Amino acid sequence: MKHLVSVRDLTKDSALSLLQDAQEFSLVNSREIKKLPTLRGRTVVNLFFENSTRTRVSFEIAATRLSADVINVSAETSSVTKGESLRDTAQTLEALGADCIVMRHPEAGTPQQLAGMGWIQASVVNAGDGTHEHPTQALLDALTMQQRFTEDLSGLHVLIVGDILHSRVARSNLLLLQTLGANVSLAGPAALLPDTFTELGASVSHDFDASLDQKPDVVMMLRVQKERMLSNFDNDESRYVRDWSLSSTRLGRLSNQTVIMHPGPINRGLEISSVVADDPRSAILQQVTNGVAVRMAVLRSVLAVQS
Ligand code: CP
Repeated sequence: MKHLVSVRDLTKDSALSLLQDAQEFSLVNSREIKKLPTLRGRTVVNLFFENSTRTRVSFEIAATRLSADVINVSAETSSVTKGESLRDTAQTLEALGADCIVMRHPEAGTPQQLAGMGWIQASVVNAGDGTHEHPTQALLDALTMQQRFTEDLSGLHVLIVGDILHSRVARSNLLLLQTLGANVSLAGPAALLPDTFTELGASVSHDFDASLDQKPDVVMMLRVQKERMLSNFDNDESRYVRDWSLSSTRLGRLSNQTVIMHPGPINRGLEISSVVADDPRSAILQQVTNGVAVRMAVLRSVLAVQS
C-alpha cells in the first residue's frame, strides 16, 4: 500500500491485516520499552492545514515509536500563508527528505489530489479531509470494537448518531464497518442526516430513542460541527440536547455490554453528557490510545518496510 487516502483503498483482507498489525503494536505500546527500529532513516512530515490534537499527536508518537524522524508543519506557520501552492509545498517537503506526508486539510479531496497528481514520490496518508474521510480514525474505531467484542465484527450492530452530514468520521466508519461485515445504522436530525445516506447502504432514522430501542452493540456519538454549519446553531442547542444528546437517562436504557464511542473532541453537555463520557461503558480514551497503534501500522505499511 503506497498511500492511504480513503477506506475505499482497503479490502476486507488488507483492513484485517492492518488491524492485526495494530493489535501487535498496541501490545508493544504497553511495554516499558516501546521503541522499534522499523522506520529508522525515514522521514514523516505531518502537514496540517486544520487544527488537531489526537490525530497529529498520535501520528507524531507513532512515527517516533518506529524510530522515524518526524516534522510537524502547520499551515499558519508555513509559506502557505505567503501564497505557496500545495504542489510547491509538497515538492519542497520532499526535497527536504520527506518519505511520507500525513495531511489534514479542510477541503475534501486534497490528500487524494496530492497522492494522485504525480507531483511527489512520497507516500500520502489522509489525516482527515473536510467532510469527506478520516480513514485512520475508522481503523482505530474498528480496533477498539475488536478489543471490546471480538476480532470478527460480522453482524455487530453499530449506531452512529448526530451530525452525520459534516462527519468524515461517519463516512469512513460506515464504509469500513460495512467492509468488515458489521451492520451500520445512522440516526440524526433531518437537517444533519439527509436521506441520501441510504444510498451508502445504511438504515437512516430521525428518532434517537427508537434507534436505541434496537439495542445496538455500539453507540458512536458524533461532535456537532458548528464550524462547518452555514446557519447559526446556537439557537437550536437546547432542542438538540433534548432530542439527540446521549444522556444518563438514555444510557440507562442500554445494556451494560453496550459500548459508547466518540471520535473526539467531545462537547460535554451537547452531544454527550459528562457522566456518559466518563462511564465505564465509554471507550473514548481507549479509542485515543489505539490511534497510536493504528497509525504505526499504517506508517509501516505505506513505507513498505518489512518487520
Ligand atoms: N478525532 C480527531 O480527528 O480528533 P482531532 O481533530 O483532535 O485530531
